[in-house]
Amino acid sequence: MSLALLFISVFFINNSVLASPGQDKECTRFALNSLIHGVTSEDKNETGATFKFAYKGKGPQRFSDAIGADGYNVSDDLAAIIKFFKEENIDFTNANLVDIGPGTGEKGAWIINAIQSQLGGNPSYYALDFSEEMLLLAKNTIDEKTKNITPFGMKIDLENEWKLRYKKNDMNKPSVFLFLGQTLGNFDDRAAVLQGIRSNMKTGDILVLGVDHFDPIKVASVVAGYDNKLMGEFLQNQSEFLNLDNSKGSIKYYFNYKTNSVEAAFRFKNGVQEPIVLFKSHRFTTDEIEQLSYKSDFSLAGTAINEGTEYKVHFLKIE
Ligand SMILES: C[S@@+](CC[C@H](N)C(=O)[O-])C[C@H]1O[C@@H](n2cnc3c(N)ncnc32)[C@H](O)[C@@H]1O
Repeated sequence: MSLALLFISVFFINNSVLASPGQDKECTRFALNSLIHGVTSEDKNETGATFKFAYKGKGPQRFSDAIGADGYNVSDDLAAIIKFFKEENIDFTNANLVDIGPGTGEKGAWIINAIQSQLGGNPSYYALDFSEEMLLLAKNTIDEKTKNITPFGMKIDLENEWKLRYKKNDMNKPSVFLFLGQTLGNFDDRAAVLQGIRSNMKTGDILVLGVDHFDPIKVASVVAGYDNKLMGEFLQNQSEFLNLDNSKGSIKYYFNYKTNSVEAAFRFKNGVQEPIVLFKSHRFTTDEIEQLSYKSDFSLAGTAINEGTEYKVHFLKIE
């Protein structure tokens, strides 16, 4: 068994949730098939590729390179989260930290270090993701950048029904769920994703939801902000999965006002074929977050904004 595989099998809590490599291939084939038959968005007649390709294979490393690039400061949006934990008097000597879609684990590691140094306690840390490659990256980051934490990874797909399995000693502890980095904006049925998370939470648990805020005045600069080399490299994964390259066309970024999303579509040179949407990132108004919270049976306990980036962190409680 290779070292990487050994890590994965130790890291996963429950092997029954581990997909075999064969299953992953099937999943890709299925998605490609449905793409060939055409998944058409209501408004623009564009064919859409599932964004899941972005987090497979080389994708996680590309994501990691993008966020590790100059100018990215992982702490920007996180101090507000620690402030909220302080105000809420959360006792991390007896709590779980559940990181949904941990990405590289950088934010999880930052938050754990801040909890240990400012609040005290070693929370049990769970990383939940549908990408095995991403889970491995997150595990390595937590191992390298934190002390006294044994990360547990679990493979789940937020778009399907899932059940968080706690270790025996953690079952009755309160849990703080992190759902950061605008991940919610990548899903079409955002209420269903929140309801899925809600169904895994108990009274007293908290969900920390980080999303990009919609400000109509800033649309042009937000869209322009995506059109760079790093984002291009990250989207390369989508293009490779679909066998699209520069000789066939190019990627264009725009704002879709019907869905309030930044989108990137591959437009073919000859214009004969429909463009393929490779990326969608929905922007949220505060009203919408309130409605989504209500629909998924959460109460909105607070909001913090990073003025520089228009990134908002919402604190959702279960009462
Ligand atoms: C944009 S990254 C966010 C990473 C990190 N939380 C941050 O704030 O930087 C999205 C993460 O969600 C995961 N993800 C995307 N779709 C998912 C799905 N359907 N089920 C589970 N995880 C998913 C990705 O693999 C990735 O780790």
